Amino acid sequence: MKKKWSVFISGRGTNLKALIDKKTKPIDIGLVVTSNPSAPGVLYALEEKLPVYDFKGNWQNLHEKLQEKQITHIFLAGFMKILPAEFVLKWEGRILNLHPSLLPSYPGLQSIKRSYKDKADMGVTIHFVNDKIDDGKILLQEKVIKCEDVHKYTLDEAEKMIHDKEHELVCRAVELV
Ligand code: GRF
Repeated sequence: MKKKWSVFISGRGTNLKALIDKKTKPIDIGLVVTSNPSAPGVLYALEEKLPVYDFKGNWQNLHEKLQEKQITHIFLAGFMKILPAEFVLKWEGRILNLHPSLLPSYPGLQSIKRSYKDKADMGVTIHFVNDKIDDGKILLQEKVIKCEDVHKYTLDEAEKMIHDKEHELVCRAVELV
């Protein structure tokens, strides 16, 4: 079955951009969902003439929209809303989440800053979504900076390295599901 993706965003959307720009085996993005219509990432969708769904909080309406668009898979790329269990159940095994730490370490918010401050191993995880936050079976995980090297980088540099790795891994992840 051919996959048709919906990418959910709330902010900058650089991972959406990485998926749009994927050159080898390009993917079909059938809907961009945003919890924030003025998110910079929405511009990438508009430039590409991708349909954008302004999510106002009704999960059943969103589910119906995804069905109408014949979406098969969802990628949470910086989506700042917690998915309710019943929505997750409907899409179980077909929702990926991107997270900027080596889960199960540093779930939740500010993961880059917190792991940097602790001089912990830093990296990126892509996992299937279940009804717990930043939990679920890991699909891809890569270390970007070893704990003993964290001091060699500024926070900005570390953040850039993490984001670069994210852009690479999101493109790999969509080929694995
Ligand atoms: C990424 O760091 C992702 O790991 C986190 O939110 C950020 C989204 O970045 N969940 P962008 O909006 O794709 O630039």
